[in-house]
Amino acid sequence: MLVLGLETSCDETGVALYDSERGLLADALFSQIDLHRVYGGVVPELASRDHVKRMLPLIRQVLGEAGVEAAQIEAIAYTFGPGLVGALLVGASCAQALAFAWGIPAVGVHHMEGHLLAPMLEEQPPAFPFVALLVSGGHTQLVRVDGIGRYQLLGESVDDAAGEAFDKTAKLMGLNYPGGPEIARLAENGTPGRFTFPRPMTDRPGLDFSFSGLKTFTLNTWQQCRDAGDASEQTRADVSLAFQEAVVDTLTIKCKRALKQTGLNSLVIAGGVSANQALRKSLESMLAGLKGKVFYARPRFCTDNGAMIAYAGCQRLLAGQHEGPEIKVQARWPMEQLPAI
Ligand code: KG4
Ligand code: ZN
Repeated sequence: MLVLGLETSCDETGVALYDSERGLLADALFSQIDLHRVYGGVVPELASRDHVKRMLPLIRQVLGEAGVEAAQIEAIAYTFGPGLVGALLVGASCAQALAFAWGIPAVGVHHMEGHLLAPMLEEQPPAFPFVALLVSGGHTQLVRVDGIGRYQLLGESVDDAAGEAFDKTAKLMGLNYPGGPEIARLAENGTPGRFTFPRPMTDRPGLDFSFSGLKTFTLNTWQQCRDAGDASEQTRADVSLAFQEAVVDTLTIKCKRALKQTGLNSLVIAGGVSANQALRKSLESMLAGLKGKVFYARPRFCTDNGAMIAYAGCQRLLAGQHEGPEIKVQARWPMEQLPAI
């Protein structure tokens, strides 16, 4: 089945063509980062308007790159939620209009299920069951995954998501949006051991996370340095490294706990923060100790993209699922509500 996938949940317009027999045929992305950077974060109305501008040219580009005619497309998958409602509505309207015009089905995809299944597009995909760590700008969740739509939430953040903590901390230190890649880049030159930050909620049992205190701790450290006349690039790098180490260590401790609790030794990491090299390394060495394996997508499929939506939608379409002709989206949507296939 040849599926066109559309992603518009936040600040990236993603389009891809996935074929259940031939795999991924083409994918294209327009990132709005430059548009939002001057505001220090995503401006929802600007995001929606930009999705409108980019969607059709990206669809044409993907069709051209894959050498596919519109008439060959058999179904359309689009992000149904969670996300910014206006941005989601652009993708939903476009998908439903094209599906109606072309006389093909459309299926709404859960954005986090898209992230979770993105590693399935890689050469060595994970096999069910596994534990998934979903770490994006809006979510930090540990999930036991027994199949598509068979999700058991094991733990989640009680406040900021991991990506949000990176973004907010970066902003407090005067870095650009999005903060994750900025902090990761600075941390490469950080001095190990100069600062050590707390590992929140690791000293008590459970699989929930909290990152907002760590953000404040980081800000206080940065301000103390600045007040003492040291706002050097090196200090910024040292603070970035300490922050990243605290996040990575906390995530690693909780993943290890989740694997122990479930008795599994396969871990999938997905979402924007799963592109972080320090996190990958730390989880890989933890899993090596358990004789297990970590799975993740190539960096451009860790952050928002159309390929994961086309793939996830294709699996649900093959199982007979599709939407009616209504243009509907869902800004908030727990992943456990998804039907199993
Ligand atoms: O999955 P994603 O593209 O969008 C959401 O669904 O939220 O994730 C974006 C988040 C941002 O918070 C960004 O700062 C973070 O992922 N991120 C990173 C890295 N690359 C992106 N965080 C840490 N290290 C990175 N290399
Ligand atoms: Zn995302």
